Amino acid sequence: MAFPKVVHITEVGPRDGLQNEQQPVPTEVKLELCRQLLAAGVANLEATSFVSPKWVPQMADAAQVLAQLPRRAGLTISVLTPNMKGFEGALASGVDEVVIFGAASEAFSMRNTNCSVAESIERFRPVAQAALTNGIRLRAAISVALGCPYQGEVSIESVVDLVRRMRDLGCHEIGIADTIGVGTAGRVKAVFEAAAHEFPIAQISGHFHDTYGQAVANVLACLEVGVNRFDSSIAGLGGCPYAKGATGNVATEDVVYLLHGLGIDTGLDLDRLVEAGQWISAQLGRKNASRAGSALATRRAAQADAAGA
Ligand code: HMG
Ligand code: MG
Repeated sequence: MAFPKVVHITEVGPRDGLQNEQQPVPTEVKLELCRQLLAAGVANLEATSFVSPKWVPQMADAAQVLAQLPRRAGLTISVLTPNMKGFEGALASGVDEVVIFGAASEAFSMRNTNCSVAESIERFRPVAQAALTNGIRLRAAISVALGCPYQGEVSIESVVDLVRRMRDLGCHEIGIADTIGVGTAGRVKAVFEAAAHEFPIAQISGHFHDTYGQAVANVLACLEVGVNRFDSSIAGLGGCPYAKGATGNVATEDVVYLLHGLGIDTGLDLDRLVEAGQWISAQLGRKNASRAGSALATRRAAQADAAGA
């Protein structure tokens, strides 16, 4: 199958990327990161979460972040909303998209949202209805679709079952997530192909964590079955507080390097992404986890040295 000509990236760095940081990240740093991402052409920005601050303290400043976030035509700002309380915060903050997040395993559902899979769907139902009534785009995320830190293996049928339930809630997009980064390309293809029997492939997105170094390969596997929407995180930041040991998301710079190399349009400026990745890594005092980002930054520094010599 031919690759898609255009791929839509949702930048999740400010949300998935930062939610697991142990030290509070100042609101101003979050905002500056968002500004740099927008300057790099990001059109879909997952900015924060309206979740319980007792569960994820790092996202407690969601309303403040959104109040100061620059908006522009064509920009979709999304936030996580696990329940109506979260939705009300999101609505008051004028977001374009809300994300309901369920899990393909009972154990993860319980750890992440303190309820069973069936209960989570009942909590999402009013959120979905309110989103649709208010003209807000509705996206779902399905966690642990390739493996669960508590349960181990996850069947394809349990992913497909959740795809059906999310579809029936009226979702515009359903993201299938490898929360702990254990998936390999063959299994990934099988999961996405099975999901595509229940929901249009053009509305399914891939969300990969890179714990086992498989994330870019898994993006390629998805492209091969017609997926053209991905989440990624600047500098490979990220992790879920309820999936210990899972490392960051696939890095936006690495995905964009792959896609541009394949001649696929993303609308993103890789040089500016690299700058943003270097900047936030320095702010957090850590090495940039994007391989392409680090390599391009090193090359640029060498070129600047040579020019100055
Ligand atoms: P609960 O404790 O069962 O909730 O948590 P509750 O309804 O009993 O409420 C308890 C307290 O939380 C109350 O406050 C509520 O007001 C408050 P109190 O009366 O004790 O002062 N509360 C809220 N506050 C702010 N915003 C809200 C909210 N809801 C309740 N929305 C709950 C249930 C779902 C709230 C909790 O488990 C939670 O917030 N979980 C979120 C966990 C999370 O954010 N995980 C990371 C995101 S998912 C992820 O990273 C995976 C993803 O990237 C894909 C992948 O990689 O897999 C998307
Ligand atoms: Mg994630």
